[in-house]
Amino acid sequence: MSYLFFLGRSPELSQAELSVFFPEAKQITESIYQVEGDSFEYNTRTIPIPASIKILGGTVKIAEVFGNASDLDPATLAEYLLKDSNNRITFGFSTYENVPKITQGIYGEVKDMLEKEGRKARFILPKEHSILSGVAVAKQDVLEINIVKNGDAFLLSKTMSVQPFEEWSSRDYDRPFWDSKKGMLPPKAARMAVNIALGGNALAKTLLDPFCGMGTILSEAILRGAIAMAGDSAEEAIEKAKKNSMWLRSHDSTLPPITFFLSDATHISDHIRKETIDAIVTEPFMGSPKLGEGKITDKKEIKNAVKGLEKLYIGCLREWHALLKPHGVVVMALPDIVLANTKYSVKNVIDRCETLGYTTEQGPLPYSRPNAVVRRMFYKFIKR
Ligand SMILES: C[S@@+](CC[C@H](N)C(=O)[O-])C[C@H]1O[C@@H](n2cnc3c(N)ncnc32)[C@H](O)[C@@H]1O
Repeated sequence: MSYLFFLGRSPELSQAELSVFFPEAKQITESIYQVEGDSFEYNTRTIPIPASIKILGGTVKIAEVFGNASDLDPATLAEYLLKDSNNRITFGFSTYENVPKITQGIYGEVKDMLEKEGRKARFILPKEHSILSGVAVAKQDVLEINIVKNGDAFLLSKTMSVQPFEEWSSRDYDRPFWDSKKGMLPPKAARMAVNIALGGNALAKTLLDPFCGMGTILSEAILRGAIAMAGDSAEEAIEKAKKNSMWLRSHDSTLPPITFFLSDATHISDHIRKETIDAIVTEPFMGSPKLGEGKITDKKEIKNAVKGLEKLYIGCLREWHALLKPHGVVVMALPDIVLANTKYSVKNVIDRCETLGYTTEQGPLPYSRPNAVVRRMFYKFIKR
């Protein structure tokens, strides 16, 4: 079998996550990857490839490749739909990159052809652009055919699974505490970072988030089967993260409890034994909220803020080194501050990494809104 993985809005980070489970994935376009095989290894189990949609934060759809077509005429499209054995078919076409949208006229002709073959057919059209929404495909049980250019031909694939959008959205907005202004990480981004750090088998691995905030990363870590520990210097954050984790665990009693420490991230080793942590995954403090709101415009002030952040992150990496097991991993977001066409980065952190005993393995992998002032850049560091 051959499958296409359609990545979400942050293709670099999503691809880094995909390659954890599917290192052989072949790039077709900027955000579409092809994987050969039937199953993959997940937490010591072997599971079918379409089920990976529940594990990946950065993949929005997985489709099984049917074959190549040189033309997108109604007969060719109908032929592929007729491979489906259901008597009633609700169909739709999504086209990508330079493949033109399938016209309503062609949809009508395909419907007629299906009905001539004795099928009850209806179709849905993409609302905007040329791609059907995952919500529509899942809710209306649509047989969706994805059409991607592949050299001179078109690669046709049938959607097998779409991202469980309701589960992701519930973990984001139904938890007791969330605050979009406090720089919380969306659960999908947290899952990508956790997967990149823990690899295919997360069972019994220990993960620490020393700037836990509302605890988004911790939730994704225990859902992957890891043991999670957390720190934050604000008592309020710890209380809220505890309540959020209790809420998550009230929906699944098999999830383990999380250990919390009220602690500065640069003193977390007062609470944790040396060489016991497999991975540190964190979105640290990224400067005053005024910076993110674009309210600090004075260059000198921004440069001073960047210096302060560099000092904090270097202090953290120095502190965390002793806690990590040999070859332990740090996946952390570092800020790029972009204001009036000028970019300010915490580049001293990257420069100092080597001398602090780490190797930079991946990054920068961006995850932010396109026009944000403070942009998250994920990095993966390995303890040497
Ligand atoms: C960007 S938020 C983390 C948000 C988190 N990823 C989430 O999704 O909720 C940064 C957190 O770091 C905490 N913090 C700031 N300075 C700290 C320090 N020196 N040590 C530990 N925590 C700190 C803040 O209280 C805040 O909760």
